[in-house]
Amino acid sequence: MSRGHAVVIGDDFSLGSKENIERYISSEFDDVVKADLSTTVGVERLFNFCVNKYGRIDEIWHLAANSDIPAGVTNPKVDLERTFHTTFSLLGACNNFGVGVFNFASSSAVYGDWGDVPLTESLGPLTPISNYGAMKLASEAQICAAFESFLTDATIFRFPNVVGTPATHGVIFDFIRKLQKSPDRLDVLGNGTQQKSYLHVDDLVDAMIYVSNRSGEDSNTRPTIINIGNNDCGVSVKTIADLVRKRCAPDAKINFGSSSHGWVGDVPRFSYDTSLLSSLGWRPSLSSVLSVEKAIDQISDEFTKHLD
Ligand SMILES: NC(=O)c1ccc[n+]([C@@H]2O[C@H](COP(=O)([O-])OP(=O)(O)OC[C@H]3O[C@@H](n4cnc5c(N)ncnc54)[C@H](O)[C@@H]3O)[C@@H](O)[C@H]2O)c1
Repeated sequence: MSRGHAVVIGDDFSLGSKENIERYISSEFDDVVKADLSTTVGVERLFNFCVNKYGRIDEIWHLAANSDIPAGVTNPKVDLERTFHTTFSLLGACNNFGVGVFNFASSSAVYGDWGDVPLTESLGPLTPISNYGAMKLASEAQICAAFESFLTDATIFRFPNVVGTPATHGVIFDFIRKLQKSPDRLDVLGNGTQQKSYLHVDDLVDAMIYVSNRSGEDSNTRPTIINIGNNDCGVSVKTIADLVRKRCAPDAKINFGSSSHGWVGDVPRFSYDTSLLSSLGWRPSLSSVLSVEKAIDQISDEFTKHLD
């Protein structure tokens, strides 16, 4: 929007909320269409709204998904519908409405568990270990097929763990919520040794726009697939627990579990290779640990405001 584009948001508000959007944009902004984007009917309602109001759609930024990975472990249909069917339906509508540009929020979860092997975009075969990762990978495959057929430009952004506000889920959100309920104890899923790369959402958006501004510079025969993130050694869950405790409840006792995984489908550590992104000239403004610290401040402030 700050670059002068008209932006229309489609969301069914199953996980997000209109309030989350309203705090970042003016209250007069009414280009929000409540629609289930896993269905043809829902997607066509969104596309018709855009075409009726603005005459055309230039590009799709597809971020709708099931962001609750453990929920998809309990019921894999959640990932099928919210993560894959949304991609499938949006691509179908792009074909029908003549939209050629598609940007997709994928995830490091498509790689699976490779331990210390650097996760580069060319690594394969990809072996996701969660339903969430499987449906993101299936979405990527569907986008590749659409690129061969009718898309003119497609970018698949593989996100790391993203932190910031407004938070609806994630390790920092969970820890702060737990400490609000019981300020004397913090139960951690897993033994705290899980170590991952984190990126602040402000850096993430900056990177996506940076990459998208460059798209079209090379004549691509395939969609652009790019890891977005920090290439430092990441932050351990134990460090995050310590930082959240220090900020929110210094007297709390931290109780770690015994498993090296937080839950089924959790990739306990990964080494994210972001050299492709660096080669384009983009650098994050915050390291993994600084991203986590900033998000802890922001999310705990939000919780405090909610209590007032
Ligand atoms: N947060 C992370 O660490 C992270 C990491 C990797 C990838 N991603 C991806 O980034 C994107 C945004 O994630 P987020 O963390 O902001 O989560 P989020 O839950 O805040 O955003 C996902 C949105 O999709 C909407 N949605 C779900 N199913 C829908 C449907 N059928 N129709 C319409 N809307 C639907 C939800 O209501 C929600 O607002 C997602 O695609 C997610 O998979 C996030």
